[in-house]
Amino acid sequence: MTFRTPIIAGNWKMNNTASEGVALVNAIKPLVERAVCEVVVCVPAIDIPAVAVALEGSNIRLGAQNVHFAAKGAYTGEISAAMLKEYGVRYVIIGHSERRQYFGETDETVNKRTKAALEAGISPIVCVGETLEQRETGKTQEVLDRQIAVGLQGIPDLAKIVIAYEPIWAIGTGRTATCEQAENTIHYIRKKCAELFGEEQAEAVRIQYGGSMNADNYRLLMSMPDIDGGLIGGASLKAADFSAIVNYDKGGMGGMKLSKDLL
Ligand code: 13P
Repeated sequence: MTFRTPIIAGNWKMNNTASEGVALVNAIKPLVERAVCEVVVCVPAIDIPAVAVALEGSNIRLGAQNVHFAAKGAYTGEISAAMLKEYGVRYVIIGHSERRQYFGETDETVNKRTKAALEAGISPIVCVGETLEQRETGKTQEVLDRQIAVGLQGIPDLAKIVIAYEPIWAIGTGRTATCEQAENTIHYIRKKCAELFGEEQAEAVRIQYGGSMNADNYRLLMSMPDIDGGLIGGASLKAADFSAIVNYDKGGMGGMKLSKDLL
């Protein structure tokens, strides 16, 4: 079985000014310096320059929350992958349900953004997940099938992306998926990836769970075999809670694999 290095990413959403962001990462840094997973903070775009400086020399990687698909041009208000890259951004969240719901993101634009990020050498964290109504009417698999088939269409190497399974009904609600629900659905996503991209790719892709994951409930979720990490919203805004999740040693690997594969 392939070992997949766990990845815990904070999604700050629209929280923290640049100075507040610097203070938060300065508080997190000493608490996670022995982490055996990959640690990422996905910060508001305007915080990136200051947080990039604050993260220098640390084991925390910088992430963004969106990227435009064009290389440059007349797209007022947008930010290109090259602009992110210049500040050392390593990850970018793409297709978060809030962007799908409020900003017209579709599986087609998710696909274009994913390709643009990969071309610039930034790893996309591609978000998928169903609404409560879709789950209750038995449409979860159908929704995920489309999000994966269209969103990841033509992606050559799934090892270079991360998928975040975020059931919309669990985001910011305090209503976490049970570990069985999360594991079963993430297992299904991996199966779908195998069908579309082959077994080897499906074994390599890291899949996070997101949705009200916090310092009280992360252990069970993280212990599930198909869950390779978390995309953390609210709990990533508190240094103590975020670092508690980060410091979980899945499988007791003690970082050997991390240093070999990623450093
Ligand atoms: P919460 O952890 O606040 O539920 O947010 C999850 C999320 O949307 C992360 O991207």
